[in-house]
Amino acid sequence: MEHHNMTNRYESLNAADAEEITELEIDLLLDGLYRRYGYDFRHYARSSIRRRLQYRMNREKVPSITALLERILFDPEAVDRLLQDLSIRVTEMFRDPSFFLALRKKIVPELRKLPEIRIWHAGCSTGEEPISMAILLEEEGLGDKVKIYATDMNEEALNVARKGAYRLSSMQSYTKNYLQAGGIMEFSKYYTTTESEAIFNRELMQRILFFQHNLVMDRSFNEFHLIICRNVMIYFDDRLQQHVHQLFHESLSVNGYVGLGSNESMLYAEEVSKYRTVDAVEKIYQKLH
Ligand SMILES: C[S@@+](CC[C@H](N)C(=O)[O-])C[C@H]1O[C@@H](n2cnc3c(N)ncnc32)[C@H](O)[C@@H]1O
Repeated sequence: MEHHNMTNRYESLNAADAEEITELEIDLLLDGLYRRYGYDFRHYARSSIRRRLQYRMNREKVPSITALLERILFDPEAVDRLLQDLSIRVTEMFRDPSFFLALRKKIVPELRKLPEIRIWHAGCSTGEEPISMAILLEEEGLGDKVKIYATDMNEEALNVARKGAYRLSSMQSYTKNYLQAGGIMEFSKYYTTTESEAIFNRELMQRILFFQHNLVMDRSFNEFHLIICRNVMIYFDDRLQQHVHQLFHESLSVNGYVGLGSNESMLYAEEVSKYRTVDAVEKIYQKLH
């Protein structure tokens, strides 16, 4: 971790006081961020918020979280920097291939029966996940029937996503994922290359609509046959997870599916009766009513 040369305000306190004050400061900062800029991180898991704020404090060279609050209130560019820290964007194509394999085997045969298919990727980051889905459905002959809605709260990530261009050096590991996910073609058929980038084909990109949507504040905007939301709710506290589950339930058609991926916890008790478990490991559920 980077060191800053200003006196750290917490050093003079005993551990209990430092802890109490830090918690209070975090509350105030998150409140300020919400009230001034409308970004609501108040119900994100506290441990990762703490780490991120500490990192931003060091980068901004401020001695306390209160000083960081002051900075973001008076300097909108510092808010952008903080937002990038708070949104963890790590992703890859065909991430956790077994998840995509389960979709291919268990969900695609059901989707095939529908006249048109609407899929929502919530928290799509820089787009690798929905593009993987577009490839999978193309191979299953469902490309023409599908519309993929890919959303994230982070506009900067969405701008990367819309280009569909990724580092050429990542393609080797993505090809491996693709094959493990049941891919049946040459992966390189889906992109053209420049010296440093792989640019995914227009026909694939046209199946995907990228736009900003915040799971904390924004409402349901369509009815879907499949919702994918992986590695997003792990950053939320129980109450916020519950809220998002309600949003997904409202946004799913009867018999529609939600896929959370193996890193998420189970559905909460309140939801369990409304769903059937399709895959307990990959956390794929079907809405019953
Ligand atoms: C780690 S990435 C996951 C990307 C992809 N789903 C995957 O599993 O590879 C988490 C994404 O969730 C987004 N996110 C976090 N909070 C959100 C919220 N309240 N509403 C919408 N997106 C959010 C972040 O901006 C980030 O792009």
